[in-house]
Amino acid sequence: MSRFELRRISPAVLAGLCMLGAGLAEAQPAARQAALAGVGRTATPAEIKAWDIDVRPDFKGLPKGQGSVRQGEVLWEAQCASCHGSFAESSEVFTPIAGGTTTQDIQTGRVEGLMPGANQPNRTTLMKVPTLSTLWDYINRAMPWNAPKTLTADEVYAVTAYILHLGNVLPENYTLSDANIREVQARLPNRKGMTTAHAMWPGKELGGAAKPDVQGSSCMSNCKPEVVVKSFLPDYARNAHGNLAEQSRLVGASRGADTTQPPLASNLQSNSAPAQALRAQVAPEKIATSVLAVTAPTASPAKSAATGVAAVMPLLQKNACLACHGMDSKLVGPSFKDIANKYKDRPDAAAYLSGKIKAGGQGAWGSIPMPPQALSAAESAQISQWLVQGAAK
Ligand code: HEC
Ligand code: HEC
Repeated sequence: MSRFELRRISPAVLAGLCMLGAGLAEAQPAARQAALAGVGRTATPAEIKAWDIDVRPDFKGLPKGQGSVRQGEVLWEAQCASCHGSFAESSEVFTPIAGGTTTQDIQTGRVEGLMPGANQPNRTTLMKVPTLSTLWDYINRAMPWNAPKTLTADEVYAVTAYILHLGNVLPENYTLSDANIREVQARLPNRKGMTTAHAMWPGKELGGAAKPDVQGSSCMSNCKPEVVVKSFLPDYARNAHGNLAEQSRLVGASRGADTTQPPLASNLQSNSAPAQALRAQVAPEKIATSVLAVTAPTASPAKSAATGVAAVMPLLQKNACLACHGMDSKLVGPSFKDIANKYKDRPDAAAYLSGKIKAGGQGAWGSIPMPPQALSAAESAQISQWLVQGAAK
């Protein structure tokens, strides 16, 4: 494994690899020891401490601390509301966090809106989460999305308290702490929603049958080569988050569907049997990116470099700009196309935008603020240059 690859592996994956290693150790201690002799070193206590941050449902691992609903509100407005909305209702792109729970749910511990037949269009975090430790742990390790692990334990208590207040689980004068978190767990709307008595939703308790999760029979020989397209990416969603072919995500490199191109079957350059079957069977406009992704080649970098987007795309990705900005469509912030259009006649547009990207701000497009961005002046100048040249894809 190259050093480059190693740097990109998250601690969670590393922990998984370590566990895999431990499993092998049990199976073949001697062979493993021989294979690993001289490799690596023992993790230091500080390294283990940095990884060992999980909070269990029984609250083992929960750091001591406290935070009030009011403190949480201030933090929320500053660090969470830009993505999740002032009332945790969230914008069109992010999961809504609060909402959909009732006083009765807090009493019963079972969210009515999740029952079969309930006419609830959306599922929020507070509707689903059965263990308060999960909410605390998730915020502590993953949020704010653009700066995970920057909150202190007290701040995590405070925003958690604020979210619970938005769901009417806690009154506005409440201070959540390690000392009273169990009492609050006993008020969580869906605390009795977790069950192991079923295999697949809806499960036995709700009138379904306990079925195994996987029911397919695997074909081992003489299998049909056809691919049946069950879903497709609607036109308006194509390229909404930039060209998938040029992105590599934390979950690994994407398989390379070029979403700047119309979804024509002729874009499939692979001659594998499933690809040919696809071309033969499927109306061009119905081919899904997800299906194309299995066989489509990655986009040619030369072509993109000519348009300039290849140079800025890594910067847009690295700085999570695409979480809030689409190429052509408004997300949390305006689309890059709209920004380019708005400033096309302004002489100092490049300098203005470069400054604004670094400093963030509000009011040019509406009331949602853009947080300051931690990128270098050179990077923000490069992005601005691309914008004033028309934000070509
Ligand atoms: C830059 C945008 C952004 C900011 C700022 C942000 N979040 Fe998030 N949040 C997300 C995204 C995206 C997800 C979904 C991540 C995923 O599913 O991998 C998420 C998920 C969550 C969830 C879990 C929702 C669920 O049901 O899965 C919680 C809780 C949460 N955020 C809380 C917070 C808190 C608290 C803050 C402020 C301290 C915050 N977020 C700031 C983008 C953001
Ligand atoms: C958390 C969401 C978020 C993130 C992340 C984000 N932006 Fe923004 N951006 C916004 C919002 C909201 C606005 C509108 C602000 C306003 O109305 O003044 C905006 C506005 C802009 C503007 C137009 C400024 C103006 O005055 O018209 C540019 C350019 C821009 N963003 C570029 C970027 C770049 C580049 C990145 C990544 C380095 C980025 N943004 C990251 C939300 C975000």
